[in-house]
Amino acid sequence: MNKYIIGNWKMNKSLSEISPFVKTLKKLGKNQKNMSVCVPSVMLTEISKQAKGLFEVGAQNCHYAKKGAFTGEVSAEMIKETGASLVLIGHSERRHYFDESNEFIAKKVKEAQTVGLKVILCVGETLEEKPKFKSVIKKQVIESLSAINNINNIVIAYEPVWAIGTGKVATTSDIAKAHSYIKEIVKAKFGEDVSVLYGGSVNSKISAEILALSEVDGVLVGGASLDATEFVKIAESRG
Ligand code: 13P
Repeated sequence: MNKYIIGNWKMNKSLSEISPFVKTLKKLGKNQKNMSVCVPSVMLTEISKQAKGLFEVGAQNCHYAKKGAFTGEVSAEMIKETGASLVLIGHSERRHYFDESNEFIAKKVKEAQTVGLKVILCVGETLEEKPKFKSVIKKQVIESLSAINNINNIVIAYEPVWAIGTGKVATTSDIAKAHSYIKEIVKAKFGEDVSVLYGGSVNSKISAEILALSEVDGVLVGGASLDATEFVKIAESRG
């Protein structure tokens, strides 16, 4: 299977920008497989309709409950109903700005897996935590996966916080080390192999080098996924 190329639009773009994005992907990226874009939840239905058969669509967050008095939240089932097939959980921006704990994230992972969404669980250390990145990542992975008993539909994205939106990319040796470590942790806990994506300032100039690493199963792309042409170039760099 092709390595994953997943975009994260974060809180960017508007409904009217979906159509030009999809058109460019149709034109330039129609032969590219295993591409997805995670968009703001109000855009899920529209982009799912337009992207059908071309690329997969995901949300950037979900709630752990099935339904109820959680004003402003969106359940995993609601996301699935829009036609989306994946969800980002535990992105560092949510951990940081919204104080999401591993325990809270674990409940979301369980619910998203239960309804059949592919979960992209994000982990990664801050700059201060870099010297002890192994213990930080281990805690995040173990605790965030503590509510499930198999890793069906679970993918992990290693996104060092210091590399997100900064133009500072982790070295290939750091990426390989972190990914091997994550795979080891998951294998020890679940007895299965997990796919691990790299995220943090990925663009088409550096993506080939990262995607060539055997420890890397794909990339999670923020800023560079907003430009459809650039996003397709990243997909093409899989070689
Ligand atoms: P950038 O690619 O903009 O650094 O963002 C990475 C990211 O946070 C993807 O989830």
